[in-house]
Amino acid sequence: MTPLPVLQPPPLVAVRDLSVDLGGHPVLRRVTADVERGRVTAVIGLNGSGKTTLLRAVVGEYAYRGRVTFHCGHDHSRPRPEHVGYVPQKLTLDARLPLTVLDLFALALSSRPLFFGVSRRVRTRAAALLDRVGLPGSERRPVDGLSGGQLQRVLLALALEPSPELLLLDEPAAGIDFKDQRGFYELIGRLNRETGLTVLLVSHDLAMVRSHADHVLCLRDGVIACQGSPAEMLTRENLARTFGADSEPVPHFTPTV
Ligand SMILES: Nc1ncnc2c1ncn2[C@@H]1O[C@H](COP(=O)(O)OP(=O)(O)OP(=O)(O)O)[C@@H](O)[C@H]1O
Ligand SMILES: [Mg+2]
Repeated sequence: MTPLPVLQPPPLVAVRDLSVDLGGHPVLRRVTADVERGRVTAVIGLNGSGKTTLLRAVVGEYAYRGRVTFHCGHDHSRPRPEHVGYVPQKLTLDARLPLTVLDLFALALSSRPLFFGVSRRVRTRAAALLDRVGLPGSERRPVDGLSGGQLQRVLLALALEPSPELLLLDEPAAGIDFKDQRGFYELIGRLNRETGLTVLLVSHDLAMVRSHADHVLCLRDGVIACQGSPAEMLTRENLARTFGADSEPVPHFTPTV
């Protein structure tokens, strides 16, 4: 009897020949990569190599040439906002605004103006999400009184509602001390394992990439220099391809070989 063919599920996002120009300059050139369903894919590269641009092009915030195909939702149609959660590199909201954590949830989750008060539905969801990211009972805390690590967790909680299929994290742990950083990446790993959430993240922390990513995209000057498993990508040779031979060795990081 002929064995049945094993059907490979399509990647959650297939990026093909993606090119982006910003301000009249090429920023990404012919990037081809798959974001596999249920996996953690990390993007690494020097400042200005195009990592944020790649994430923003994937969610359709930048015009691009080439193709980005999503296989989200039942009908595999174009991604709708509820399919994608995004934790930005920088908070564009002024964190000094006199807002509480609950106000942020109300702004994000409810369609009615803040001055009508926060609905019970939003309170219940906020409590559950804050619990999930390890900040139970933080609803009343002012946003400007949160540490960098706590703020990142609040942004993560906001990105988890409604429950996305794809979570994009742009340097989620930048500026956070190493202990909080480790906790943050462990939280992401747990979400990935327990819920099958697909994660595409940008990180400069190669040790975290080694322990938490399944696949690594190495960007150099807007081009994929190499891609593969962390064990393959975090070698001296591939790090030199990504960061330049002159930057070797990467500080505080021991390559695979
Ligand atoms: N809106 C814009 N207009 C013009 N150029 C831009 C714009 N946004 C980004 N760039 C340029 O595109 C290049 C890539 O930027 P991008 O933010 O994607 O880099 P990155 O890899 O995320 O860097 P970092 O590690 O510093 O966050 C940079 O040279 C940047 O100056
Ligand atoms: Mg960036």
